[in-house]
Amino acid sequence: RTVYVNGDYLPEGDAKISIFDRGFLMADGVYEVTSVLGGKLIDFEGHAVRLKRSLDELEMAEPCSKEELLEIHRKLVALNEIEEGLVYLQVTRGSDGDRDFVFPSADTKPTIVLFTQNKPGLADSPAAKKGAKIISIEDIRWGRRDIKTVQLLYPSMGKMMAKKAGADDAWMIEDGHVTEGTSNNAYFVKNGVIVTRPLSNDILHGITRKAVLRMAEEAQMKIEERLFTIEEAKEADEAFTTSASAFVMPVVEIDGVALGDGTPGPITKRLREIYLEESM
Ligand code: PDD
Repeated sequence: RTVYVNGDYLPEGDAKISIFDRGFLMADGVYEVTSVLGGKLIDFEGHAVRLKRSLDELEMAEPCSKEELLEIHRKLVALNEIEEGLVYLQVTRGSDGDRDFVFPSADTKPTIVLFTQNKPGLADSPAAKKGAKIISIEDIRWGRRDIKTVQLLYPSMGKMMAKKAGADDAWMIEDGHVTEGTSNNAYFVKNGVIVTRPLSNDILHGITRKAVLRMAEEAQMKIEERLFTIEEAKEADEAFTTSASAFVMPVVEIDGVALGDGTPGPITKRLREIYLEESM
């Protein structure tokens, strides 16, 4: 693979970052994942806008302009011949050469890294035909989940808890209500109404969420943005998640309870189709 590090395109084995980088020492960094379908970036603009917001919230400098960012994304997709896959982008605060809780001076250069992941068959994935089994776990993450930071240890542990329980993923619960999935936004459908948690600092403002809700509205589907419990979701007709890496992913089982007939629901399948059609 050819990767991008601080201005250079390099073979992945030649890429180097300081061991004092605050991304490495303190998870002081933010990221974006943009999908690629038919060799085209999906919703680059949305990801660029959210990256800028994450950087601003953490008082971190922009490593380059949006135009340069787009150019880097396109060049990596071309160099690595990605037809279906992902572009991962990470910006960290860099370092001034030592470990310190205090931020380094404002003129310290942020570290920017991008790489591609080739995922042939991403749109036509067998996992999406089967649907995902999820478990619920407590949400013990920090209080600014709207900032897309690289602190992914708990989501990663959540995914492992799911695997150990024979499931695929986990939804997290705080104060009795579902926040989101380990790496996706969460929805259920009951009597034709799509329910999802409203935006706040408690969840990531998904780029796919925004697109899917717009498409659902255009298709005259009913949407309620409100808090919901895992019990409500278990009694739903269907459920699904959204993310740049899995688009619209059906959920067919929650905490061992099958939803509907245990296969992906019609509204979920329709939304996945619409999303992929409009994105390709
Ligand atoms: N995850 N919620 C969380 C906690 C996420 O990590 C993600 C994305 C989403 C969905 O956001 P979007 O639709 O913008 O991808 C919601 C990415 C894909 C990841 O960590 O790989």
